[in-house]
This record gives sequence, C-alpha cells and structure tokens, in this order.
Amino acid sequence: MKAMTNVDDPDVMLSVNGLEITFKTDQGDRVFLRDVDFDIRRGEVLGVVGESGSGKSITALSLMGLLPNAGRVTDGEAWFKGKNLLSMTSDQLDEIRGKHLAMIFQDALTSLNPVLTIGNQIIEAIRAHQDISKAKATNLAVDLLDRVGLAKPKTILNQYAHTLSGGMRQRVMIAIALASEPSLIIADEATSSLDVTIQAQIMHLLRELSLERDMSVMLITHDIGLIAQMADRVLVMYAGEVVEYTDVFTMFEAPGHPYTRALLDTVPSIEDDKDRELTAIPGVVPEDYYAINSCRFAGRCEFAQQQCRETRQVMRPLDDCRQVRCMRAQNNELDFVHSTQCEASKIALARRKEEAKKRLSQG
Ligand SMILES: Nc1ncnc2c1ncn2[C@@H]1O[C@H](COP(=O)(O)OP(=O)(O)OP(=O)(O)O)[C@@H](O)[C@H]1O
Ligand code: SF4
Ligand SMILES: [Mg+2]
Repeated sequence: MKAMTNVDDPDVMLSVNGLEITFKTDQGDRVFLRDVDFDIRRGEVLGVVGESGSGKSITALSLMGLLPNAGRVTDGEAWFKGKNLLSMTSDQLDEIRGKHLAMIFQDALTSLNPVLTIGNQIIEAIRAHQDISKAKATNLAVDLLDRVGLAKPKTILNQYAHTLSGGMRQRVMIAIALASEPSLIIADEATSSLDVTIQAQIMHLLRELSLERDMSVMLITHDIGLIAQMADRVLVMYAGEVVEYTDVFTMFEAPGHPYTRALLDTVPSIEDDKDRELTAIPGVVPEDYYAINSCRFAGRCEFAQQQCRETRQVMRPLDDCRQVRCMRAQNNELDFVHSTQCEASKIALARRKEEAKKRLSQG
C-alpha cells in the first residue's frame, strides 16, 4: 500500500509494489519476503536498514534479476523507466543492467574479469554508454579512478585485478558501476570493507553524482550513521517485511514503529558516557519468521499485546511522512510515537539538498 508517491509520477525512478520472494528449501517453498512497497525518486538516496536476514539483499537482487537459483519472485511489480523489471527476460534485463541500473556488492573479488586489464573493463563500460573515442574514454576512466580515491590511476589502468588489494578492487568495481552513468545504483554494503576515510570519500562521490546527474541511490547498510548522513528517505526492514518507511529526519526524531525505535536505541549518541556498552535489541529474529502471520516483531517487542500476536500487520500511514506496520502505533496507543511536523522535515530535506548542491557548485 503506497500512499506517498505514484507509479506514474515522472519524479519517481523506481516503483516497487507488492514484492514477494519465495525460496525452495528442503522443507518446501518458503515465502521469505512479502508485501514490499517503496519508491525511489530521481536524485534521491533511499537508505535500507534492518538486522541480518531481514531481506535487504534479496530485495535488491530481485530487481537486478540476480536472485540465487533457489529463489524466485512470486508476486509484485517493479517499474523502472516505464518497464516492469520483474517480468523481463534475461536478455531484456541485460540491456538495462549496467547501463541504466547498476549494483555494487560487498565482495568485489569475484566480480572483476581476471584476464582483462582494469582499463579495458572501465573503458568498455564507458563506451557501452557513450559514443566517444577511446582516448576520451581513457581520460574519463582516469578521472573516475581518481574520484573513488585511487592513487596513480593511470598505472592502475594497465593492471590486472589480482595485482590489487581487496580495497582497491572494491573501488575499481565502484568505478565500473558508475562508468555507464546509471540512473539508479544499488549499493549493498558496498563500502563496509573499506576504511572509514575511503568509505567517506565514496559516499561523498555517490552524493555528488546523485546531485550532478540526478542519479538515484538505494543504499543498503547496517550503519545507522551512514543513513543519517546520506539518506533522504529510509526503508526499515524486519523479518522479510518493511516495517517503517519515512524520511530520514522523521526517522531519527519521531520513529513510528517499535522496531525502528529499538534499532535507534542501539546507536550510541554523543551525550552517552563513552564507557556505555553498546546495546543490542533483545532477542533474535525468529528463524521461521516466514511462518508468522501476525506481527513478526511481537516476540521482541516491549509493547506487544495479545492482539498483535493474532493479527496480520499491514503498512498504513501515520501521517504524511510515516508509514508503519504496527496496529498499536496506528491506533495511537504507543506513548513514544509523538506527532511530528512532516512539512518541516520536507523543508529540512530540501534545504540540505540545496546546501549540498551549492557546496558542489563552489567546488
Ligand atoms: N540462497 C538462499 N536460499 C534460501 N534462503 C535464502 C537464500 N538467500 C537468502 N535466503 C533467505 O532470505 C532471507 C533474507 O536474506 P537477505 O540476504 O536478503 O538478508 P539481508 O537483510 O541482506 O541480511 P544481511 O544484513 O546479513 O546482508 C534470509 O533470512 C534467508 O532466510
Ligand atoms: S503490532 Fe504490537 S508487537 Fe508488533 S510492533 Fe506493534 S506493538 Fe509491537
Ligand atoms: Mg545482505
């Protein structure tokens, strides 16, 4: 159920509706992901957070047509440039992947071609998209390698993947993904193996490109700090479902779902005593969550009541800027859920974007 944007809106780059993913397991078919709805607007960074196993990667992989063999999309649509990605043949997807839609993964080891130089791979990606001379493409490749923070980019062009460190390969992969100037890039924990300075540099580059080219970014991460810094809107996932969908200011100031609140409680704040132990959300994600047809968070939720364990939860808007999957929040029964000024958040988001654009234009 999507209340905030619309598939026909020209400002929307990707519109996902009712996505459901099923895996074949030894015990039979299991629906691991269901009822996933979201949009990504042009030039927007959508952050996706949630504990391990919540379904972040399979959501992204399904959009790319790259689910593992045991998995398949059993329901839903994903509209991108007027076409439904989920009903495309692999030839049709090949046309779109890399060129308009790119994904960067955590592990670049297996993604680079071992027999082609780095230069060949980047230049090929650039020329697949732009009709330019090899010399011009080489200059662009050098520029890209420089922008992802690689020293001596000209030397790297002549090297093969096995001669580079893991961190360098990761940055080369990111450069290749960006080379074709995709309209949407999905980054799945793409920088978590890099040191913090390089990570900041890559995130800065993604932000710049989103502003310069109106590139949309789906940023999948466990790092709430990165969400605060990068995301415009956020999709919070738990046990194969979206539980909250909101803008980043509202998420931090006025979370509407008990899981989002618990997730934020695990992040140390600057006022915290530095010896404070990091808290974790009590309990674990139930292994058989696909079998839970009521609230999947009920086993760990401090606000759970009998009704939560008996009723399937659906996404509903709390207001203009928050949708949550929690009947108690929707019924206004949770004290921590306070009202918020959605309009003020929209203004703050727009202002942050304008300031970033200004900084960018000033070099
Ligand atoms: N190849 C597979 N076969 C069977 N089930 C799978 C497979 N891959 C994923 N799943 C199921 O889908 C669920 C979601 O997995 P996914 O990899 O999307 O989680 P995630 O949110 O990306 O976690 P992480 O933060 O650890 O990367 C998993 O809990 C798992 O049960
Ligand atoms: S529906 Fe109930 S158990 Fe589930 S998140 Fe809301 S309050 Fe907690
Ligand atoms: Mg993952």
